[in-house]
Amino acid sequence: MKKLLVANWKMKPTTLADVELLTRASDAEGVVLAPPFPYLDFVKKMARHAELCVQNVFFENPKNGGAFTGEVSCAMAKAMGATYAIIGHSERRQFLRESDAMIARKVAVALEAGLIPILCVGEGHEVRHRGEAQAVGFVGMQLMTDLSLLKNEPSELIVAYEPVWAIGTGNNATPEQASVMSNAIRKAISTNHPSLRLKVLYGGSVNAGNIAGFARERDIDGFLVGGASADAGEFPKLISIIHNL
Ligand code: PGA
Repeated sequence: MKKLLVANWKMKPTTLADVELLTRASDAEGVVLAPPFPYLDFVKKMARHAELCVQNVFFENPKNGGAFTGEVSCAMAKAMGATYAIIGHSERRQFLRESDAMIARKVAVALEAGLIPILCVGEGHEVRHRGEAQAVGFVGMQLMTDLSLLKNEPSELIVAYEPVWAIGTGNNATPEQASVMSNAIRKAISTNHPSLRLKVLYGGSVNAGNIAGFARERDIDGFLVGGASADAGEFPKLISIIHNL
């Protein structure tokens, strides 16, 4: 199975000309593009091979919309052509105070709406400092709440293991650390949600220099890439490394 490459552009690029450049550079099989909402339609119309993802959804999806200023529903994301939704990214947990309770609702509504959630979990520096068992325990607790509203129906779920200390820091986890966490995530989910079809991604300072090391790990099904995915020079290198594995 080819490894999935999810490009989380975050709040970039800032001009439409750069969006065009980046889309052209990133449009390949096995790539999922997560642009900011205003660019979705533009990217959808340009991309021939890549699939589309949103970076967030609202935790309710009322049939006729609702009075939730500034929010975007799963139905809207689907109507714009998105297949996936990033949920619970650590930047949203940190800057927007997203709680596991909110994230649980988002995962549930995304699945109900037919979007594939890319649920982000991961421990901070403090927890990692206390050792691997603590990190496994922390992520296990996140998963327990984040998946607590799931009905036990067969569906597809992606979990991105993104240690907070590795995001945007250039200080990536080691492939071994990522693999241990990926295994722990699989174990927790297969016990509590046996009908979910699961992929586990690694994210946190992935770049062209370190991706091959992670890609050799059988437990890692792909990558959630931030900084390097918004760089039209760098991301094609990641694509070609993955395609040539
Ligand atoms: P990064 O971000 O690749 O810049 O570390 C990853 C992410 O936030 O998903």
